[in-house]
Amino acid sequence: MPLIPLLKTYQARAEKALQHWLPAAGINPTRLHAAMRYASLDGGKRVRPLLVYLTGQMLGAKPAVLDGPACALELIHVYSLIHDDLPAMDDDELRRGKPTTHIQFDEATAILAGDALQSLAFYILAHDPAMHADAALRLQMVETLALAAGSRGMAGGQAMDLAAEGKEMNLAELENMHIHKTGALIRASVRLGALSQPGVAPAQLESLDHFAKCMGLAFQIRDDILDVEGETETLGKPQGSDEARAKATYPALLGMSEAKRRADELHAEAIHSLAQWGEAAQPLRDLAGYIIHRQS
Ligand code: IPE
Ligand code: IPE
Ligand code: MG
Ligand code: MG
Ligand code: MG
Repeated sequence: MPLIPLLKTYQARAEKALQHWLPAAGINPTRLHAAMRYASLDGGKRVRPLLVYLTGQMLGAKPAVLDGPACALELIHVYSLIHDDLPAMDDDELRRGKPTTHIQFDEATAILAGDALQSLAFYILAHDPAMHADAALRLQMVETLALAAGSRGMAGGQAMDLAAEGKEMNLAELENMHIHKTGALIRASVRLGALSQPGVAPAQLESLDHFAKCMGLAFQIRDDILDVEGETETLGKPQGSDEARAKATYPALLGMSEAKRRADELHAEAIHSLAQWGEAAQPLRDLAGYIIHRQS
């Protein structure tokens, strides 16, 4: 299937699964549940679920087995976005084309919505009856996601990002921050997709992990580029937010053309690491191209 219909199919699938797992807005505490749904539903590119689905599909996993991991990844991501936008962090008022959760609701509700989305992600991995039944496999998924979301993954990268505001970072430090704040969840997406199909050889897992590492870093470089070159309306979030907060970014440190060159280089390396998968990996290659060339 060409990329766009494939993306649409899996985006719709992820939406339905999220609808299923998120508590209804009428259930108490209604304001919290409404905020969780507001932030999670009907928005975003769903890149992390797409990585779960496309990796799992390539390895032969059925889509129903992948819905839980896809949702878990997206819920952790949405929680990270809600908190990222808070006044104490990036202080942004627009996300996915709508007022950020703390603007639409209030700060306390936004903080709690993030907290509750994180818990829901782990609940799904522990509980989802449609996922692979093997308990050891689920435990590996929980471990992977916990590491990727925590202080040695996304949350740690966010701490580095905040500590670097207004300061000079060298390239190694900048790359390390990006690998943590964004790369960790991208990498976990591919790994949960792969774990959903038992029996994948370690060398094969290794090649997929290398693909994910390259694309995780490239994803944040593209995000930094779009913060300079994109338009608020297309992005659905405020253009220029990084410059306004004196963030450490690729374009700020290296200049725009070098940032683009680095993104292209990582893209090429990611594609190279899929060589052994032949035609079966074409959807993942297409998704990588989309990540590197996207306008939002
Ligand atoms: C934005 O992520 C935050 C980063 C980690 C760069 P996305 O660009 O995936 O945002 P959505 O999910 O499509 O809104
Ligand atoms: C955010 O990086 C990474 C997260 C873990 C949310 P950014 O702060 O650059 O993300 P945007 O640009 O606000 O989406
Ligand atoms: Mg940020
Ligand atoms: Mg931000
Ligand atoms: Mg950004």
